[in-house]
Amino acid sequence: MTTSSLAHLYSKSACCAVPSAIREISKLVDLPEMKSLAGGWPDPAVFPAEDIRRIATEQLSKNADQVLQYGTTEGLVDLRRELAKLAGRRYGIKCTADHILLTHGAAQGMDLACRVMIDPDDVVLVGLPTYFGGTGSIMACCGELLGVEIDDDGINTHQVADHLRVLKNSGKRAKGIYVIPNFQNPTGATLSRKRRKHLIELAATYDLVIFEDDPYGDLRFEGDHLPSLMALDTAGRVIHMRSMSKTFAPGLRVAWIIGQADVVRKMVVAKQFVDVATNTLAQYILLEFISSGLLEKRIELNNQYYKRKRDFMLEQLETHFPAEVQWNRPAGGFFIFVKLPDAMDASELLTDAVKHNVAFVAGAPFFIDQSGKNTFRLSYSQSSEAVIEAAVAELGKLIKKRVIIKNA
Ligand SMILES: Cc1ncc(COP(=O)(O)O)c(C=O)c1O
Repeated sequence: MTTSSLAHLYSKSACCAVPSAIREISKLVDLPEMKSLAGGWPDPAVFPAEDIRRIATEQLSKNADQVLQYGTTEGLVDLRRELAKLAGRRYGIKCTADHILLTHGAAQGMDLACRVMIDPDDVVLVGLPTYFGGTGSIMACCGELLGVEIDDDGINTHQVADHLRVLKNSGKRAKGIYVIPNFQNPTGATLSRKRRKHLIELAATYDLVIFEDDPYGDLRFEGDHLPSLMALDTAGRVIHMRSMSKTFAPGLRVAWIIGQADVVRKMVVAKQFVDVATNTLAQYILLEFISSGLLEKRIELNNQYYKRKRDFMLEQLETHFPAEVQWNRPAGGFFIFVKLPDAMDASELLTDAVKHNVAFVAGAPFFIDQSGKNTFRLSYSQSSEAVIEAAVAELGKLIKKRVIIKNA
């Protein structure tokens, strides 16, 4: 086909959007010989495939007229009612079906939230580092990003307060803050209770919206669940995004947002022009899966399963990584975040590792200021113990070689 460039006609939004580094690395991970600790995908071994097959068959035999039909943009009302009950029971969030919108993944939830809330040049505070799906949605609306340090207690809210003060004095509009409160991607860090409360106070003082992205919250292996930001907020400033991708099946692309009714209505209008409605069959399957109690049983089983994997990876790190390397011990989720000595570059290590058929995700793409060059993310979720052991051992060897050269 002969083509002439249309680049000069691209929209501002298309020019603001940047590709995801994770999607790029997925191509590598697909190679059969690759021992990958890269993808933050769930392990297919715990997909509830049998239950999904049974429910789908039942639905298609009894209810085909409805399950193959378009649905409303908001999502099935029975499912939204069931999700409202689940939100009260598990997350301490008081809401009704009117506060809920079904989406194709939390990724779509964040995209719609940004369409509704972010104007070009609005500033949104994000973690250093943070998941680039979140920053990507903000950038696609031409929002401006401002980074805030993340430590073991999650995003540093004192630094958030400093940034907000400076921004206000310079006459700039901070619109919001993007937070992954539980077992954050990529650090595995959980926002402390104290900081959760502080964030809510700051949002009220500076008139902000909080984008609370919580796809990992159900995956807690130990300790008590902390209240969600939405449960602590009495002013309706939080848009709470949940996903079924990590506890059910990401391929079905079902997720949901909770927000105040007016905000949800705005997001419904935005979704009408994106994809009209969320997959109807997937919603009926999820409705049955939740209402029959299978989801909560599945969450318990998954947590035992992923806890074993986390413990196994931590043991392997202790065995194979040299003393110069640091990492955290997440209380849940899928990720361990590794810090190499300052002068080492994790993307150079990755290039080397790929030659030895080992993959991980270098940390720098998660940092909007391009810092974090000496960091990388390991995921224990998807790989077998054999792969985790072999990959960590290989990485340990490669890191030790670099440490020796650096110290020579
Ligand atoms: C923090 C975070 N938010 C959102 C998503 C997207 O999830 P979904 O599959 O629901 O779109 C991911 C996926 O890895 C994630 O890590």
